[in-house]
Amino acid sequence: MDRFAALWPGCAGWSACHPPSIEGVLPSLAVPVVAAPMAGGPSTPALVCAVAAGGGLGFLAAGYKPSAAVVSEIEEVRRGGARTFGVNVFLAGAATTDPAGVAAYRDRLRPLAAELGVALGEPRWDDDEVDAKLAAVAGVPVVSVAFGCPSAETVQRLQAAGSAVLVTVTSVAEALQAAAVGADGLWLQGSEAGAHRGGFTDDDPASPGLPLAALLTGVRAETSLPLVAAGGLMDGADAHRALDAGATWAAMGTAFLGCPEAGTTPTHLAALTDPRFDRTATTRAFTGRTARALVNAFLVEHDADAPRGYPEVHHVTRPLRQAAAAAGDADHLHLWAGEGWQRLRPMPAAELVRTIAAEL
Ligand SMILES: Cc1cc2nc3c(=O)[nH]c(=O)nc-3n(C[C@H](O)[C@H](O)[C@H](O)COP(=O)(O)O)c2cc1C
Repeated sequence: MDRFAALWPGCAGWSACHPPSIEGVLPSLAVPVVAAPMAGGPSTPALVCAVAAGGGLGFLAAGYKPSAAVVSEIEEVRRGGARTFGVNVFLAGAATTDPAGVAAYRDRLRPLAAELGVALGEPRWDDDEVDAKLAAVAGVPVVSVAFGCPSAETVQRLQAAGSAVLVTVTSVAEALQAAAVGADGLWLQGSEAGAHRGGFTDDDPASPGLPLAALLTGVRAETSLPLVAAGGLMDGADAHRALDAGATWAAMGTAFLGCPEAGTTPTHLAALTDPRFDRTATTRAFTGRTARALVNAFLVEHDADAPRGYPEVHHVTRPLRQAAAAAGDADHLHLWAGEGWQRLRPMPAAELVRTIAAEL
């Protein structure tokens, strides 16, 4: 018997029975707008609290940091007064099947690293402390996962602690798989989205999956689960289209990168408004996993020979990218951006949520 069968007597489970009040599984929001999780700095407790103050839902990003830091960020959000918020956790994938390709890529990056005075990292695999992080986030109102389908047992453990569980999907097939493990809702990530493709497998950079509108239509035809729509949404008109097409919430990442509460590096932020960067592309060059970024010199030079190998390549290039960010060198840094980046509106996050609400 699944969780919904337990909640509604006579219901044989999600696929057999869709109670009309099911969207009540997710917390209700004054504004159906979500500040998407953005690991690597942008998602801060201050951003989450500001988004909540505006009536939307903010997300912490557990990726790339120790689980102890996730615990203290959650405490900080609670101390800041936000009761409804989310945390995103990366699920661990398998080690690269192409260690030789990763080693050869590292060798090709040596001259650049020497030029920038940086020692490249070792190509190691790790699980980003996934078990400790899943334990840390249990009970947070909304937990989303990326980079894989959680087990039904993991979903049930989070639900039993009081969390609604969202699974990031990039195709209809993934959506059905996530529904089958009992997810409370689906985080639909269209191909327009900034940063990594968050689905179960690593998409080919040359064909990064369905655009949001097609994904939304395809998934809505198959399930009545609550859907969170993400990818290229920048304002109220974009959000309205997504909600009209069946989304429960409209999620935006790039749109929040310019908020003063976000921890976006000054180098990244400056690049987002620099006309020199005039397009985005999907590439494995920065981390070994397909992600959308502004096209800079590093991307142009290394896109073609970047192997599939996440997180190994991420660890190799990380010191180089960190040094570039610190030095204001936008050409050797992952400038994650969704396709709508040129419509960025730098303003306080609560004001941005209220502006989007008014546009809606
Ligand atoms: C800088 C940046 C970092 C991101 N980090 C994460 C992350 O840690 N976890 C995750 O699930 N998605 C992450 N994403 C993807 C977003 O959650 C969201 O799906 C995406 O931003 C939506 O597209 P948009 O940027 O066009 O709004 C990131 C996006 C950006 C721009």
